[in-house]
Amino acid sequence: MSFPSAGQIAYSLLYSIAKGDVFGKDQPLVLVLLDITPMMTVLEGVVMELQDCALPLLREVIPTDKEEVAFKDLDVAILVGSMPRREGMERKDLLKANVKIFKSQGAALDKYAKKTVKVVVVGNPANTNCLIASKSAPSIPKENFSCLTRLDHNRAKSQIALKLGVTANDVKNVIIWGNHSSTQYPDVNHAKVNVKGKEVGVYEAIKDDSWLKGDFILTVQQRGAAVIKARKLSSAMSAAKAICDHVRDIWFGTPAGEFVSMGVISDGNSYGVPEDLLYSFPVVIKDKTWKFVEGLPINDFSREKMDLTAKELTEEKETAVEFLSSA
Ligand code: LMR
Repeated sequence: MSFPSAGQIAYSLLYSIAKGDVFGKDQPLVLVLLDITPMMTVLEGVVMELQDCALPLLREVIPTDKEEVAFKDLDVAILVGSMPRREGMERKDLLKANVKIFKSQGAALDKYAKKTVKVVVVGNPANTNCLIASKSAPSIPKENFSCLTRLDHNRAKSQIALKLGVTANDVKNVIIWGNHSSTQYPDVNHAKVNVKGKEVGVYEAIKDDSWLKGDFILTVQQRGAAVIKARKLSSAMSAAKAICDHVRDIWFGTPAGEFVSMGVISDGNSYGVPEDLLYSFPVVIKDKTWKFVEGLPINDFSREKMDLTAKELTEEKETAVEFLSSA
């Protein structure tokens, strides 16, 4: 497994993975940590700390600044490294700085990784970076690429749970549609919550449609920016937790009766989202393969929001392709 590695997210993520939270308590691990050359001394410190955790599953930790070393025969690639946004920026403002990284990493994955590799893109703008990585790796199935919207999904679950005074585990089947950006659509029309042992729809449980259609959506859409404003740094602990949830579900499958949100290639979807976008959908996962959740009724309110975020993704894709052809 390979990670860009000396940053804040990786610092939280590596410990969880190394202790077995993601691939299970009896899966030995070799972690390959990729970062840029100036970060190599910092990375040495991360390697020392991982060794000092004295974790039974960890067989080897390999720090490197070379993509050909990092991606060789890889089973899972978690692409975290990129320039993070600062206060006042939208994630798409990072397109120019980051899209090149994902083109290069896609091409290196194509050359060196196993064809079965699962690639998870976290660096922003995550959907479009993921699309570019996939397009740069034509020999790896498009379905093996996904981008992280699980952080938004977890944020949505948690906001509902806080409002109702239940735990996040009592809430299931929220959906994040579209882009990991402020146009994303957190949809709880199909979500269920367990209140005092009884499973009910979220609209029925909350009984406040204007909150669900207003502040709830805004809070989830703007949460990344709110964290940056408060911390002066982008989210790290919660992002690492979401990556663990996302990759664990790819590895072991989603629980019966539950679906999760993931940015995946839109080809063949039945929700009227244009093809060839990396769009977040509700999916179920079995045998390390995801499938769209089919047949959910979409009302007019949802339709409009789903189309708006698709439009933004189409524009991002066009801008990214332009940058790449002029780079
Ligand atoms: C987040 O959602 O917290 C991250 O994508 C960081 C950001 O720029 O918002």
